[in-house]
Amino acid sequence: MRLLITNIRQLCSIEQEKENRQKVSGAEMSHLPSIEHAWLMAENGIIHSFGAMDTMPDTGADETIDATGRLVLPAWCDSHTHLVFAAPRDGEFVDRIKGKSYEEIARNGGGILNSARRLNAMDENELYDQSLERLHRVVAQGTAAIEIKSGYGLCEEGELKMLKVIRKLKENSKVAVKATLLAAHAYPLEYRDNKEGYVKLIIEKILPRVAGEGLADYMDAFCEEGFFGIPETERLLEAGWKYGLKPKIHANQLHYSGGVQVGVKHNALSVDHLECVGAAEIEALKGSNTMPTLLPAAAFFLGIQYQPARRIIDAGLPMCLATDYNPGSCPSGNVSLLLSLACTQLKMTPEEAINAVTINGAYAMELSAELGTIKVGKKASLIITNKIPSLAYLPYDFGNNNIDRVIL
Ligand code: NIG
Ligand code: FE
Repeated sequence: MRLLITNIRQLCSIEQEKENRQKVSGAEMSHLPSIEHAWLMAENGIIHSFGAMDTMPDTGADETIDATGRLVLPAWCDSHTHLVFAAPRDGEFVDRIKGKSYEEIARNGGGILNSARRLNAMDENELYDQSLERLHRVVAQGTAAIEIKSGYGLCEEGELKMLKVIRKLKENSKVAVKATLLAAHAYPLEYRDNKEGYVKLIIEKILPRVAGEGLADYMDAFCEEGFFGIPETERLLEAGWKYGLKPKIHANQLHYSGGVQVGVKHNALSVDHLECVGAAEIEALKGSNTMPTLLPAAAFFLGIQYQPARRIIDAGLPMCLATDYNPGSCPSGNVSLLLSLACTQLKMTPEEAINAVTINGAYAMELSAELGTIKVGKKASLIITNKIPSLAYLPYDFGNNNIDRVIL
């Protein structure tokens, strides 16, 4: 099956075959190599060739799409989500409007514990059906690769149930799916006075079972004051490594907790959130393989400070953006909105923001070899936009959908 896309106004984020970019860093992030007035051929779902219109070969295609006036981009790689959950938390949203803080709600048994109660009461098939619907929605919004975390089970059966749902999503969709064990998301109520007991349960029971059944790619912990401290996080990450699960952790969302340094020390694939980042965190990230991942849509929805994207990029570091799609701090998996926030609030250029959710998002899921840029041999997972005047128009036209078609 050959698919030909012709008359593309701008084919964005191309990469030559001899290049082998895993991620882009610093000043390089502002470059988005493109071809104006281009064509692209895909064969059996893989990018076969592309170029400027005056070089288009006269080969037969099974299907042709005329993309006059439209941009074509690599589809989004959303490397941090909690897309599997049982129920929205719109009640807590109203509580926050009326003055309660996110941490206060959590301390009173709401928040993540609220989601865990709902999830443990729901049957696996229903959880799957709801999650699949959400997955379809984000795909229509341009996402072709997604990382999904557990963390609303907070017990052996609940965590396993979530990871099985994630596996089923992976098996039944063309989206690239990565699964992360986040049993260390919060202490369940029954372990409130026995925190050590819960850490042990994760390390000795949940993790071996999850690894034994091949249900997770990565190991996460909510490393934060009032959640999992540095010593607990270190033990959890070391235990994960023993089973081959690379760390990808929640760090520095609410405090300067040392989470970034711990992530780097344990060779985390990414450290995520990063509202609280200063010189020490930036120094720790320099020279590491750890991708700083910023979640500005969660900062927006919680009304907390935004992440210092400029300091990170201007220090020469790579940087990734992800949605954090979850029922508490970010009930949206819409990457177009994320791009608008990145440009308006984090002062990223449109090119930087798009690199952050394509090639760098792919890196944060170890998918750079197959997704994230337009390169011969990579998957033809593509976004075709509406007829729009420029790349900048995507984040500029905020709140509106300019994605016409998504090809997986
Ligand atoms: O990434 N910060 C921790 N976990 C999620 C939120 C979870 C929730 O509130 O349900 C986050 O923001
Ligand atoms: Fe998160």
